Amino acid sequence: RGAFGSHKRAGAVGRDMDMTRRPRRLRRDGVRGLVSETTLNASDLIAPVFVDATTEARVPIESMPGHERVPVSEAVARVEEVLATGVEAVIVFGVPESKDERGSRAWAEDGVVQEAVRRITAETDAYVITDVCLCEYTEHGHCGVLASDARENWEERRSDPGVAGGARTGGGLTVKNDETLDLLARTAVSHVEAGADMVAPSSMADGQVGALRAALDEAGHENVPVMAYAVKYESAFYGPFRDAADGAPAFGDRRHYQMDPANGREAMRMAERDAAEGADVLMVKPALPYLDVVADVRREFDHPVAAYNVSGEYAMLKAAGEKGWLDATESAYESVLSIKRAGADLIITYFAEDIARSLP
Ligand code: PBG
Repeated sequence: RGAFGSHKRAGAVGRDMDMTRRPRRLRRDGVRGLVSETTLNASDLIAPVFVDATTEARVPIESMPGHERVPVSEAVARVEEVLATGVEAVIVFGVPESKDERGSRAWAEDGVVQEAVRRITAETDAYVITDVCLCEYTEHGHCGVLASDARENWEERRSDPGVAGGARTGGGLTVKNDETLDLLARTAVSHVEAGADMVAPSSMADGQVGALRAALDEAGHENVPVMAYAVKYESAFYGPFRDAADGAPAFGDRRHYQMDPANGREAMRMAERDAAEGADVLMVKPALPYLDVVADVRREFDHPVAAYNVSGEYAMLKAAGEKGWLDATESAYESVLSIKRAGADLIITYFAEDIARSLP
């Protein structure tokens, strides 16, 4: 049992342990990079951009430090900032000048997203994705057409102590599925006619991918891909976004159309359904609390997998960073790296610019 060439540990503790395996050998500088399994690239990242028709100047988003809503006149400048970091793709969200019952500003030719996208695609080389939903455009803040008695039903159930879950129960509130599909399809077509390179339906209406695909094909846009928010959970982590895009439901919640966080196997059915309807990219959202689902979708499907590292995932690291409780930059990098390691090819993240700037 000499000091050299022995596989046995010589110290008092574990004297007879076999120490053939010493993974520390590969953790040293020099070899560490050679054996690294996962690499983040700026080309994996998509930066969200908020365009706001109600403002003439940039407005900081309080719950998302470092992010702003910009007027249409600043949309190109905002995207140029993203491109300067090395990130090549953006996803555009809009805050309209007015809202109505059906969300008609969502598909208006002169709507906020349409105007912004027209300018961005004319003046920059960014790859432009648009979020296709109605919640920012409807007065009630729901992601589709509401049944005429939805509010009444919700109020009735909320005040009924006999209803389990009370106001949290979606049963008394209805967003009409099939009536919503046509509005989403019109919205997507209008985005593409303004220049969008890819559309991403996020309303969680059943059939939304098929409806968009059919409408795009009909309008001659068969080469525009659809990134499906296939697996979108009803998540508390969207809180800061709802401030950012002014899309919080005025009453009720999204439980009867977004997925139950308890369900993992259901995610496979959602991904399968959207794949069958022609989705080109399958998204899981949020990302960090659902890395198991990202990994499962990766394993079960050959499609590119996207993950949305959402507003709450951003806000919590930023807030802890501001308090000095952790290093926001390092924890952001580790978080986004873990999303990639779990199997995501495309990552939508509010950290996109920060991360891209820090890459070698
Ligand atoms: C629109 C939409 C939402 C998000 C993306 N698209 C809000 C929601 O579903 O409530 C959330 C993004 C984020 O939290 O960063 N439906």
